[in-house]
Amino acid sequence: MTHEALKALLDGMTLEEKAGQLTQCNAGQFISVDAEITGPEGQPLPAEELNRVLGSVLTFENAGQARQLQDLHLAADRNRIPLLLMVDVIHGMKTTYPIPLAMGCSFDDGLMAECAAMACREAAAAGVHVTFNPMVDTARDARWGRILETCSEEPLINSRMGAALVRTTQGDDLADPEHIACCVKHYAAYGAAEAGRDYNTVEISERALRESYLPAYRACLDAGARLIMPSFNSLNGIPSVANKWLMNTVLHDEWGFRGVVISDYDAVGELVTHGVAADMKEAVCLAMAAGCDIDMVKCAYYQYLPELVREGRVPEKALDDAVMRVLELKNELGLFENPYHGADEETEKRLNLCPAHREIARRAAEESAVLLKNDGVLPLKKDIRKLALIGPFAEEKRLNGFWSRPGAEKYTVTLPEGIRDLMPELELTVVRGCGAELGDTDAGGLAEAEEAARNAEAVVLCLGEPEHDSGEGRSRTDVTLPGAQLALAEAVMKANPNTAVLLFNGRPLVLTELEKIAPAILEMWYPGTEAGHAAARLLWGNANPCGKLSVGLPRSTGQYPMPYNRTNTGRPKPQPDSGVFPFSSSYLDTPNLPLYSFGHGLSYTTFEYVKLTLDKKAIRKEDSLTVTVTVRNTGSMPGKEAVQLYLRDPVASVVRPVQQLIDYQKIRLEPGEKQDVVFTVTEKQLRFISFDCEEVSEPGVFELSTGHADHLKLTDRFTLEA
Ligand code: GLC
Repeated sequence: MTHEALKALLDGMTLEEKAGQLTQCNAGQFISVDAEITGPEGQPLPAEELNRVLGSVLTFENAGQARQLQDLHLAADRNRIPLLLMVDVIHGMKTTYPIPLAMGCSFDDGLMAECAAMACREAAAAGVHVTFNPMVDTARDARWGRILETCSEEPLINSRMGAALVRTTQGDDLADPEHIACCVKHYAAYGAAEAGRDYNTVEISERALRESYLPAYRACLDAGARLIMPSFNSLNGIPSVANKWLMNTVLHDEWGFRGVVISDYDAVGELVTHGVAADMKEAVCLAMAAGCDIDMVKCAYYQYLPELVREGRVPEKALDDAVMRVLELKNELGLFENPYHGADEETEKRLNLCPAHREIARRAAEESAVLLKNDGVLPLKKDIRKLALIGPFAEEKRLNGFWSRPGAEKYTVTLPEGIRDLMPELELTVVRGCGAELGDTDAGGLAEAEEAARNAEAVVLCLGEPEHDSGEGRSRTDVTLPGAQLALAEAVMKANPNTAVLLFNGRPLVLTELEKIAPAILEMWYPGTEAGHAAARLLWGNANPCGKLSVGLPRSTGQYPMPYNRTNTGRPKPQPDSGVFPFSSSYLDTPNLPLYSFGHGLSYTTFEYVKLTLDKKAIRKEDSLTVTVTVRNTGSMPGKEAVQLYLRDPVASVVRPVQQLIDYQKIRLEPGEKQDVVFTVTEKQLRFISFDCEEVSEPGVFELSTGHADHLKLTDRFTLEA
């Protein structure tokens, strides 16, 4: 449709129909039309009346449902305005790839794009128009259960992977039925919730906000994301969905965003609970004034916008502008011509879990796994005959993560299945050994586990955190291994030291005690559908681990917040990091550094960082610097390596991090092969947020290093001239 035709459509709509366009309900309430819908005061709303004017729905699972929803609505809507169909396709629609935090550990934007493309094809075939993805909240506290949804504690990784996902998912033409629109979330700083408690207050300086929390949302909008979702939390006193500074000053005035803003679930109504709105009507006024276009599920817009406009408390122009943004998005998706977009059951059957998609998911699971420790137990020998597979996750199917689609576990390749596919001759004994539920102290299975370990040539011990214990509303005050898993590990290691630990978890866990006794630890995160195949290939070396931690792993929960890009303070703890140094910025009971640092990850081969060279020793603002890092594979296996480039600005007008990742590239080297990895550094990468919240760079000496955080090497210096 032309803009004029959309304008004519808008001009012909009643206030109720306009308010309906800005209302989103759960799809399930319409699949069965007689379902009850509760209004903002809990009153029942007639589904068939709402269905007539509704603008969008969320959460459904397949093309059949998508077509049914659209048909139900279009049959009732006199304006025949198609519904927007939205789903949380976070890491896969039917074929589940690893959780975003795992994908961040791949340090491979191209791999993220491949996975996003696969998920987009399956989602489009299921009839999805918009995915509530990417989530790019900077998260640095594993007590927050949603840390598993973001790629990293480092905004650069979230920015690059989020932008790659947006570009791949949206493509060049949203009317293309193989592409869908992205809604970046949760704007802003949801991951900075106090004490890691979900939905909690966020108080943060504007400088810290602009330096560490806003860049990734901006990167995704610059990549073209058509929607953005304000976060549940209050930010410096005002909940995001009513925060005019965040939504008008920054989002619209500074960044020029003209797409659609959709609230999070019930967030408009929660303005009353936050205590910034006296009632639902006032909540609607505040959210509209801040520029929130769609009210997700509360139906407060539907209930109150018509009267608020009639009362003159909400300008009809504000209502019209919001409705026009929604109509333009529907038009860009081509829904007026083709309301089903990509919904096609034949395509669904052909794509869902097809070999090509499973291969992508398996490769992603392999390349996001992080080999934390290996004293030689891994890779397992090809000729072993008897293996014991022990632990609460040994046969687990729920290895997909909080936001995997309902029923994803039906398709998970378990560890035994993956191992038997790869090593059919192997005699495999599987023992659960203990539970993994929070507070589960049952260690009744230890004797059986010890017996199995004693009688095997090698043991794979599968530990972690249950899928339902990380994700939304899943915060913990103590992020150690739940249940009796440590007791199981101690018993098994004693019975057979030739034991490798596989970890399945969403949030980073405290592994301090496990690390003391385990000779090998492979962090698998929640690897998704192809878990068993990926794990088996990694265990026997058919795949060589190449993941690097995109978030540091703590020695204890008490270390949080523990950003890798810390500042020096005036009393940095002297090295070594162990021991007591009174009157330094340190603890009496724990070293400062993480157990495993940001950027850490081992391989079955070894890499030598031969040299780091700069093509010049000084640059002006308009120049660029070519940095070459020479890396050699000094081991006996081919392997991939994420080469990382870190910056330090030793003297500036504000304190600067002792290390800041400014670039990364993933390479593959054959044994003995050497490669020059070339980075281009510009003045833009030297910028930071000044005390006055300006983005600036300042002349002076800068240090560039490679290696990984807390273990930098090959440092060289250059000058940015005035
Ligand atoms: C949830 C989440 C958000 C999700 C939305 C729709 O509460 O906060 O990430 O997209 O509701 O499911």
